Amino acid sequence: MIIKPFKLERYYTLYEFSAEYSICNSDCEAMTIKDLLSLEEGSVDKFHDLHLGYTETKGHPELRRDISTIYTTISSEDLMVCTGAQEPIYLFSQGVLNAEDEVIVQSPCYQSLASVPESLGCKVLNWMVKYIDEKPTFDLDELKNMITEKTKVIYLNTPHNPTGFHFSKEEQLAIVEIARAKNILIFCDEVYRELEHHPDYQIPSFADAYENGVAVGVMSKSYGLPGLRIGWVATRNKAVIEKMAIMKEYTTICNSAPSEFLAGVALRNRSTILARNLEIIHTNLPHYESFFERHADLFSWYQPNAGPIAFVKMKFDSDDMLFAEKALQEKKVLLLPGGIYDYNGFFRVGFGRKKMIESLLKFEEFIVENKIAK
Ligand SMILES: Cc1ncc(COP(=O)(O)O)c(C=O)c1O
Repeated sequence: MIIKPFKLERYYTLYEFSAEYSICNSDCEAMTIKDLLSLEEGSVDKFHDLHLGYTETKGHPELRRDISTIYTTISSEDLMVCTGAQEPIYLFSQGVLNAEDEVIVQSPCYQSLASVPESLGCKVLNWMVKYIDEKPTFDLDELKNMITEKTKVIYLNTPHNPTGFHFSKEEQLAIVEIARAKNILIFCDEVYRELEHHPDYQIPSFADAYENGVAVGVMSKSYGLPGLRIGWVATRNKAVIEKMAIMKEYTTICNSAPSEFLAGVALRNRSTILARNLEIIHTNLPHYESFFERHADLFSWYQPNAGPIAFVKMKFDSDDMLFAEKALQEKKVLLLPGGIYDYNGFFRVGFGRKKMIESLLKFEEFIVENKIAK
């Protein structure tokens, strides 16, 4: 198998831990094991008594029960616990696709959604974002017209990385109808789900909305616990989950027992954790709003209604990759340039972490000192 290097993960590998400031992270503020365990009485002793043997390939039955409470039609039998969200993305494509298949990928995208099918020899068609009045949109007629007899999967991501776009319930229904008419699988990366900025923007998981919907969830983003490396796949399509389980025996076999335990504690207290993370987002967003108001001549942004990230358009003539490199060199501020997504002229910002306000001020220093801003 020949697979392209993962541009975004390469970039983070190189710079994430050396940058002093970052305005681009996509995860919410993390917490310590101590703070997490304090959410549930008796959990410290249970954690210390945990047996460190192998766990079940599909995940501990209690954890699967906890995960199933996020969904309306998904039972613990319809779930497999995985390592982060990256593993189920990989296992799904490896398990389900053949070289002659075609897939459609909502784009620009988190690269593995497109690169894994491509590495298997599949034809990958990009369902590209269209900016209308500075707002990202995805044209449903265009999606319909991209489908052929060979289309096996539509890959979606909502709330979307990097644009911050989130489908409405009506758009979701229309996409499900398009897929159902041709018996196409929908694979939806839902790692930013449950971080809707207002309950009106919540939509069902694609695993609930469609019998052939395959949804990926994770502890990393909305819950701010990426160090657990616990994610999962949810689907009522039994054949898909079996194919993925067979693949998993070649990757990680099973999950980390301590992480499964801690993920269970977090999920049983998920309303507390989500409320904390949404509060951070609501504290940070006004700072971006006023920043982009102050610098409306330089940047335009679509303020998302869900998730912890947005995509910012650069209105001045500059290579986004060089611009990010300079910000890092001069002020140790990490940006995520659009070139990482093969979508130039933009950069991604994040607002799920507490240090963002300080980092944004550093970034402002950078644009003022470089006379980009007046
Ligand atoms: C859309 C999307 N999917 C999947 C992942 C991978 O998540 P994890 O780090 O939990 O494997 C990311 C991480 O940035 C992401 O943004």
